[in-house]
Amino acid sequence: MFEELIDGWDGEATCIRHDAATGAWMFVCVHSTVLGPAMGGTRMKVYPSPHDALADGLRLAQAMSMKQAAADLPFGGGKAVLAVPSIPAPGSAERRDLLLRYAGLVDALHGTYVTAADMNTGPADLDVVRERTPHVMGTSPERGGAGDSGEGTAIGVFHAIRASVAHAFGDPSLEGRTVLVQGVGSVGGRLARLLADAGARLVLADVDAPRASALANELGAVTVAAEAAASTPCDVYAPCATGGVLNEETIPRLACRVVAGAANNQLASAEDGVRLADAGILYAPDYVANAGGVIHLAGSETLGWDEGQLAARLAGIGGTLAMVFASAERDGVTPAEAADRLALARIEAAR
Ligand code: NAI
Repeated sequence: MFEELIDGWDGEATCIRHDAATGAWMFVCVHSTVLGPAMGGTRMKVYPSPHDALADGLRLAQAMSMKQAAADLPFGGGKAVLAVPSIPAPGSAERRDLLLRYAGLVDALHGTYVTAADMNTGPADLDVVRERTPHVMGTSPERGGAGDSGEGTAIGVFHAIRASVAHAFGDPSLEGRTVLVQGVGSVGGRLARLLADAGARLVLADVDAPRASALANELGAVTVAAEAAASTPCDVYAPCATGGVLNEETIPRLACRVVAGAANNQLASAEDGVRLADAGILYAPDYVANAGGVIHLAGSETLGWDEGQLAARLAGIGGTLAMVFASAERDGVTPAEAADRLALARIEAAR
């Protein structure tokens, strides 16, 4: 049942373990180790089937290879998925035991794959994983790790928005620009604060409406209903909630000049990159814009950067995007295609 998916994938290795004690499936997908160990988070999620979970892992691992390469980090791309029958409560014995068994699997790969946090996993879970394997990043600061990567991601997206605004309007200033932040969680909430400090006019949307309202009150922003986010007029639409938000149905409704946000896999399909360009909307490729999290982890935990170096590399996301936009125009391709070319060229050059 997994054969077709794995046969049709261009990655290096897939490790599959069924956890009899819980009924969970564990998938570790190593897409590329050309630039360094395959690094990417562990997603814990309830999927309709193990097949869907593996498909998600394979796709996410490939995207991590592109993200690491575009960020010019000495890491390859990987991802792990824990497809659980139900999410075990944080701090429960069941969750801890599952994580320890999963850590054994990661350890058996001897550093080919280095894990981190993703959907439904965080520093506390990684502290448990660290008990069984050293191949983990983003443990809590008390355990010597870099902790939550949300702050680094938000700073990187902020620089991505400035670079995109500079390209679209000829000036990076956010003073008076309207930015719609869709999803004000770990990344979107922090991003909203940075944007408010920079003088942007903020529109906030979240399925958790009280969360959006509370932040809007604090920052002097307005809110719109979550369903209205994509079609609300703004200069910059910043998707910071779920993937697939740019698709055949939403793109004709967009009323923005720029899309730049944190969500992974924003384009539902490759054609949606062309649809955006045809609509005159500048798209900041997601894996370039949201690389601040891996830059933060790699810089703080393995590359020994001080705060100044880290800040410079986060700001460098803006420079990378400017390069991507320029080469897209020069080569007559979409920014998404230009980013893929940049990342693939770096991987090829290292072979
Ligand atoms: P989070 O779970 O802390 O926040 C997500 C927020 O979006 C929540 O407030 C949630 O209520 C809201 N939301 C969910 N569905 C929504 C919808 N349909 N419309 C409006 N709001 C909705 O997640 P986090 O960590 O802030 O991540 C946000 C996005 O950025 C995700 O797509 C994630 O994959 C991506 N990302 C996060 C990184 C990180 O370092 N945390 C790194 C790279 C990407």
